[in-house]
Amino acid sequence: MGKPAFPAGFLWGTSTSAHQVEGGNENNDWSEWEKQPGRIRDGTTSAEACRWWNGSAEEDLATAASLCQNAHRLSVEWSRLEPEPGRWDDAAFARYLRLLAEMRRLGIRAMVTLHHVTLPRWVAARGGWLARDIVSLFARYAEECIRRLGGSVDHWVTINEPASVAGAAYVSRYWPPALGSVRAGLRALGAMLEAHAAAYGAMKRVHPAASVGIVLSTPRFEPARTGSRMDTLICAAQDWVFIGSLLRALRTGTLLPPLAGPARPPGLRRSLDFLGANYYGQYAVRFDPLLHERLFGRHVQEPTVRAGECDWGQISPEGLTRQLVRLSAMEVPLYVTENGIHDAADAIRPAFLTDHVAAVHEAIRRGADVRGYFHWSLLDNFEWAEGWQPRFGLIEVDPVTQKRTLRPSAHLYARICGSNGATASGRERASQGSP
Ligand code: FCB
Repeated sequence: MGKPAFPAGFLWGTSTSAHQVEGGNENNDWSEWEKQPGRIRDGTTSAEACRWWNGSAEEDLATAASLCQNAHRLSVEWSRLEPEPGRWDDAAFARYLRLLAEMRRLGIRAMVTLHHVTLPRWVAARGGWLARDIVSLFARYAEECIRRLGGSVDHWVTINEPASVAGAAYVSRYWPPALGSVRAGLRALGAMLEAHAAAYGAMKRVHPAASVGIVLSTPRFEPARTGSRMDTLICAAQDWVFIGSLLRALRTGTLLPPLAGPARPPGLRRSLDFLGANYYGQYAVRFDPLLHERLFGRHVQEPTVRAGECDWGQISPEGLTRQLVRLSAMEVPLYVTENGIHDAADAIRPAFLTDHVAAVHEAIRRGADVRGYFHWSLLDNFEWAEGWQPRFGLIEVDPVTQKRTLRPSAHLYARICGSNGATASGRERASQGSP
């Protein structure tokens, strides 16, 4: 199997999020939304999801442990923990504590996200990320979570993919509240950075040694036509709004245009103990004067890696290496917090998985301090506006019977995890004669 290829203590895991796997979430901004005709592409709803709230989480994580995974990234559902303003639900906290205790028993480290797409209904009614008091509400929630769950969590993520939420929910009408306003999107994005900073401060006051970070979506943007000045310009603009301006804000503490909000949100500068990167692929960006809500850039990649209309980009392991090397400038440990592909037949996933793990290895070789890789996802789940059609799981789930079936990639990933990446490192692959 060869010598371990990754640093000692590397985290090998998978990611999920509460609304996508728990089932029975009836008190957040997706509960009504997903039941409205036309909102979810295949007409499904999260419904029972993967029944994680009712006990299946423990079974699925036992499977993950048996597949040599030593970490899992999950999220907690704000609407369960604080169903009404200022009222904490002890039973919901107890449910998460039981799950976290079981993870510890299984030898699975926990990375816990506080906000992964959904907001409690009552927060949404106040305006969601545009609500006047959203920053203090989020910080109060973060503080309560670390007080009650802190002893069982290894790493905390404040917010998952702020730019995706701002884009899908506020700029376009893909996710609730579907505002369709660029201005609202930029304000929501600024508010999420402010809220991250406030939560970071509040959490560190309770547990100064806690490891707290944020997760950004970090696709690679490339001009569609080499030599086109407009493609190059628009590509740089998309990268700046989606990634560059956020990195800059987190490093310097200053919100630069077009991010909207206070110029220097309190506590933002260096409010990171680590940075999480979600990476699915690369966008080929082509200037399109009619696409103003996409900053005049159309993504024109070949549709070979896409199912339906979802836009996760072109497969490019190289792009992951380059993004991780770029993120090293943040001078904090890095984690790949999501990376995966929807592929029900598991035809593309094996090579995708091996190539992306090798790409992480290459980034480490080039000096990036990457401490873990979390594949999206452990099991098929409710894929937001796309419903159940895209299948991202290492484990196949039938949402009706709840039957689990391991895809070949689950075993392949077990070999990668069990060998600390040796089976996927560039060196091993080269010696086996793989491309
Ligand atoms: C990411 C989301 C995650 C899942 C994957 C496919 O952007 O964070 O919840 O939807 O895409």
